[in-house]
This record gives sequence, C-alpha cells and structure tokens, in this order.
Amino acid sequence: MTRTKVFGGNWKMNHGLAETEAFLQDFINTKISTDCQVVLFPPFTNLHLMQKYLKASGIAYGAQNFYCEEKGAYTGEVSLAMLKELGCTWVLTGHSERREIFQESDELVAKKTRMALEAGLTPMVCIGESLDEKKAGQTQEKLNRQVRSALEGMSESDVLKLTFAYEPIWAIGTGVNASQEDAQEGCKLVRTTLANLYGKSIADQISICYGGSVKPGNIEGYMSQGDIDGGLVGGASLKADDFSTLVNNGVK
Ligand code: 13P
Repeated sequence: MTRTKVFGGNWKMNHGLAETEAFLQDFINTKISTDCQVVLFPPFTNLHLMQKYLKASGIAYGAQNFYCEEKGAYTGEVSLAMLKELGCTWVLTGHSERREIFQESDELVAKKTRMALEAGLTPMVCIGESLDEKKAGQTQEKLNRQVRSALEGMSESDVLKLTFAYEPIWAIGTGVNASQEDAQEGCKLVRTTLANLYGKSIADQISICYGGSVKPGNIEGYMSQGDIDGGLVGGASLKADDFSTLVNNGVK
C-alpha cells in the first residue's frame, strides 16, 4: 500500500517576519523531494508570507489553530474563513500543547476537526500519551479514546481526508525521541483503531506521522517502520536546511 508521505513543520510560537522571510527564501531554493507532501504550520502572523512565497511551489501551509465559530465577538480568535483567505489548506487539531495548556477537550478537538473538513481544509489530527500514562500502561487506551472521539460520526469519505500525527508528549521538545519500535507501536495503534471503525482498506490509505524530537538523523529509521508515513516536526523545522534535509532523508 503506498500512502502519501507527509512532513509537517510545526513552528509553534517561533519566528517573526524577518526570520520567516529568510527561511522561505532558503527553503524554496533547496531541492526538496516531490515524492511527499510538505506542510508548514507557522504562527498566524506569518501566513501571508507563506502565501507570497509558496504559491505554486507544491509546498502546503496551514495554521496551528483556529476558533470553532464562524465569526463574531470572540476577542483574539481567528476563523477558518480567514485562514482560507490566506491560502491555508491544512490545520493542526488536537496538538498536545493545545490540549494541555489551553484545555482543549476531546469533544472540542472533534468539533474543530469536523469544521476544518467542512471548510475544505485538511486536518492533521494529533494524539499522544503523557509519560505518566505510558508508565501506567495506558497508552493504548488513551490513543484509542483520542482517535475514536475525533472520528465520532464521521463518514468514510471524510476520514480518508485526514492525516494523523502520533506525538508522545514525553518526546516533544525533550530531545528524548521515541524508539523506532515505540513510534511504530503508537502509529499502529492508530491504524488498528481506524481499521476497527472503518475497515482495513480505509485504514491502510490514511497517512500517520510520528512526532517528537524528529531530526534529520533519525527520520530514516522511523520511516523504515511499516505504519509510519511521515513526521510532524517542531525544533528541526525551524531552519530551512535542517528541514529540507530531514524531508529528503525521510523520503529516501
Ligand atoms: P519537537 O520536534 O520539537 O519535539 O516537537 C514536536 C511537535 O510537537 C510537533 O508538533
């Protein structure tokens, strides 16, 4: 089964305008494999630069977040329509930092995922267990719950539009990356849940990325695992040469 390889660069709250412009000037001039989908997720304030530099480049971009209402009195929030105007085609939903720091519930993640699909955007749905949950042997239960709740009531045709990212919280930004086996096991759990809900042939078509201290030097090992189809990358996506090397190593 050939699935699309997906490499996401989640910049989180990093890079202002000057750094973004410098990144993009470098990035568009590097040779990046076309045998995959690359997606950048910069802060909102840099999306207009993505639109300027990435138009017709084949490199996609999207937002790290949005609010789950169409418009109105929601001070500080940004809508899906606003993101579409900026040319976004992807959004992250369910990132552990939004779940943990901003208290986004499974229900809210499900609602946002559905709204993004309705708006014609591709959600990258993030799930993952904490260190305590891993130690307590609760990884399977947590991933199963997060995946099932994000998919509540979703049609087969919509599920096929999703990409997942398994990001164990203990491996994010810590430099303690998951072993290839742990990463494979997490991604496989996601695929098994998808298969239980929608059947194997649907599950086999959905790209599942691993995220958590992915670097140019370890992506190849992850990609050698049967259920890992890409990476969602934080720190190593901030420099154009690191990220392009990572993508090219991942596609090898
Ligand atoms: P790091 O690659 O910096 O560990 O971040 C992973 C992540 O959270 C991407 O969404």
